[in-house]
Amino acid sequence: MKYWIISLVPYLLVSCVVGDLFSKATRSKADERDVRSSVYDFIIIGGGTAGCVLANRLSAISDWKVLVLESGIDENIDFDIPGVPTREYRPILWNFRTERNGYSCLSRPGGACEVKTGKVLGGSSVVNDMKYTRGSKVDYDGWHSTGALASLDWKFDNVIEHFKSVEDNGDYDVLMNSHYHARGGEMHIQRFKHADRPIEIFTAGFTEMGLRSLDINTNAQEAIVNNQFAISNNTRLSTNSAFLKPVRHRKNLQVITGATVTKIVINKEEKSVDGVIYEVEKGKEKAAYSKREIILTTGAVNNVRLLHLSGVGPKADLKKHNITQIFELPVGLNYQDQVTVGGLAFALNEIPEVTEAQIINDFKTWFQSRTGALASRGIGQISAFIQLYENYNAPDVELALEGNFIRSDKFMLTNVSVHAAEESNLPLAYYNLVNIHPVLLRPKSKGKVMLNKRNPKYGRPIIQANFLKESEDLDTLVDSIDIALQLLDTKEFKKTEIKFAPLDLFPCDRLSNRDQWNCISRHYTKAMSNPIGTCRMGDNSTVSVVDYQLRVHGIEGLRIMDASVMPTHVRGGIFAATMMIAEKGAKMIIKDWKETNGHYYNRR
Ligand SMILES: Cc1cc2nc3c(=O)[nH]c(=O)nc-3n(C[C@H](O)[C@H](O)[C@H](O)COP(=O)(O)OP(=O)(O)OC[C@H]3O[C@@H](n4cnc5c(N)ncnc54)[C@H](O)[C@@H]3O)c2cc1C
Ligand SMILES: *[C@@H]1O[C@H](CO)[C@@H](O)[C@H](O)[C@H]1NC(C)=O
Ligand SMILES: *[C@@H]1O[C@H](CO)[C@@H](O)[C@H](O)[C@H]1NC(C)=O
Ligand SMILES: *[C@@H]1O[C@H](CO)[C@@H](O)[C@H](O)[C@H]1NC(C)=O
Ligand SMILES: *[C@@H]1O[C@H](CO)[C@@H](O)[C@H](O)[C@H]1NC(C)=O
Repeated sequence: MKYWIISLVPYLLVSCVVGDLFSKATRSKADERDVRSSVYDFIIIGGGTAGCVLANRLSAISDWKVLVLESGIDENIDFDIPGVPTREYRPILWNFRTERNGYSCLSRPGGACEVKTGKVLGGSSVVNDMKYTRGSKVDYDGWHSTGALASLDWKFDNVIEHFKSVEDNGDYDVLMNSHYHARGGEMHIQRFKHADRPIEIFTAGFTEMGLRSLDINTNAQEAIVNNQFAISNNTRLSTNSAFLKPVRHRKNLQVITGATVTKIVINKEEKSVDGVIYEVEKGKEKAAYSKREIILTTGAVNNVRLLHLSGVGPKADLKKHNITQIFELPVGLNYQDQVTVGGLAFALNEIPEVTEAQIINDFKTWFQSRTGALASRGIGQISAFIQLYENYNAPDVELALEGNFIRSDKFMLTNVSVHAAEESNLPLAYYNLVNIHPVLLRPKSKGKVMLNKRNPKYGRPIIQANFLKESEDLDTLVDSIDIALQLLDTKEFKKTEIKFAPLDLFPCDRLSNRDQWNCISRHYTKAMSNPIGTCRMGDNSTVSVVDYQLRVHGIEGLRIMDASVMPTHVRGGIFAATMMIAEKGAKMIIKDWKETNGHYYNRR
């Protein structure tokens, strides 16, 4: 039953590019004609969340020839059904995992936490939860903390226009606040219409605890949020469907899927970028050349792999692989991911059994009219943002809710593992269990990404995530679990038969209270797969990889414009922030080449 979705979705049986090419691949000697046809003004590496926004903006200038190289397959309609958790579709995922460390992820398979990001046109915006949360003003203002003049550009008041220029908000009560929201952009944002009984109960419970129902994107400190999602007509709107698909016909735009870039070719003397090497087929290398700029948008993990393979990174790390260093930069350091924990779940009662016939019918309904159970995310539609500490006038934790259906007699959940409780089996509208994931929005612990030891080119990069290394992170998680548990004491919950679900919490089952939650947090740690920071922006090449114009320090013609440039997390998801970074970045590129005539890059 676990993979029932797959059987309904034939497109998913796509094999990934794997292998041990590392060995003898030689660069093909392209003839003159081939070389000329593979010259572009801009090459975008990675057609993900940010890459698709950039492709749209840069190709709008008709005399610029733009190439997008994406490792994954093209997106299709099956990934766009809101009620289906696409994060379970392995064929469109990069399945990374963290290194064992002895203090977090202990009881996860292999003692490691999974980090999954999208490997498909649209990237993680095809596999994410679509929640539109921007984070708080203090987060963006904090990116400016060193006081460098150029960083002023990233203060909240200076980035709000870029959030708005891609936004098309479909909820009028939200849109009324025109300081924060807008219409007319490519990315349609809207709430789901459907609200079930548990949504009402949980909302009432949180309200009784003192949370107000607010738009979290207006710098609210705390709220019970009826989330807005990246959807249009109850269909997922990835950045591919919103930004790239509508302009794929442009003659100056070329998109190649199944194309994995393996090297950025950098002239060692001039420290300037010439082009890229990519592979559509195992071992068959192709080249593309850039006249103006290359923009790297392969996400916070893959960016590190590609830059290290290209000779950009810490000398010691490159030396292990005999890679000649071209420029010393802290690429891969400052890795951060938001982190949460499994094991806290409530069991609902009186939920009818779901039949396979009903589910098949739900699929038909969605395909015909975009309505029904698949036009819903169930309890995931709401979340609570909580401020635990007074310092910042902003939330520290999101209590993210996730429904799941467990087949178990009378909900005797004692023998249900944390893993089983989290693994979504049915469309999200069907659930008898609610997992409460307290998400650490601003983790203190930082990690590092490096090349795979044996297979640097194709093997999973090493992620030393160091989750919960800083004791503050653990304390915040446990404090927020206390708050979540208060739901059970509300009058609203007492009216119902919602109960604490006694999952199998081995080896923490014999402990109690704080000791138990400390233990659970260390054993059932969970990565949110919102990695950032590995190519952070900043003042100079000692502390950062890119400057505030997102140009790689010391290397001409190369920028990075995705989640990896964020120095610290924003107090929400990072999907909206990533689109903003790409939008703002595109404007920088256009300004540099159109208004100042390539002032920064006048080498050709
Ligand atoms: C399961 C999940 C749920 C999430 N839910 C939310 C949410 O609800 N709200 C929210 O705000 N955020 C959410 N996020 C986070 C957010 O969606 C992502 O962090 C963000 O979209 C990342 O964007 P990006 O452009 O940096 O990278 P990506 O969107 O991951 O794009 C990188 C692209 O580059 C491609 N690529 C990689 N290497 C190569 C190569 N060598 N050659 C060619 N192409 C390559 C990849 O295949 C991919 O398409 C979620 C993330 C996940 C994984
Ligand atoms: C690096 O080069 C040295 C000397 O040529 C060799 O002994 C070593 O095995 C190489 N290491 C790798 C990872 O290729
Ligand atoms: C939504 O999609 C369905 C199915 O394709 C279509 O019949 C309907 O007209 C669409 N509605 C809107 C408002 O676009
Ligand atoms: C849990 O499983 C074990 C062995 O499978 C069984 O002996 C025990 O009764 C079960 N406990 C509950 C509460 O179902
Ligand atoms: C780099 O910037 C940091 C602050 O961001 C500063 O402390 C450091 O002195 C700078 N280093 C150099 C070499 O300028």
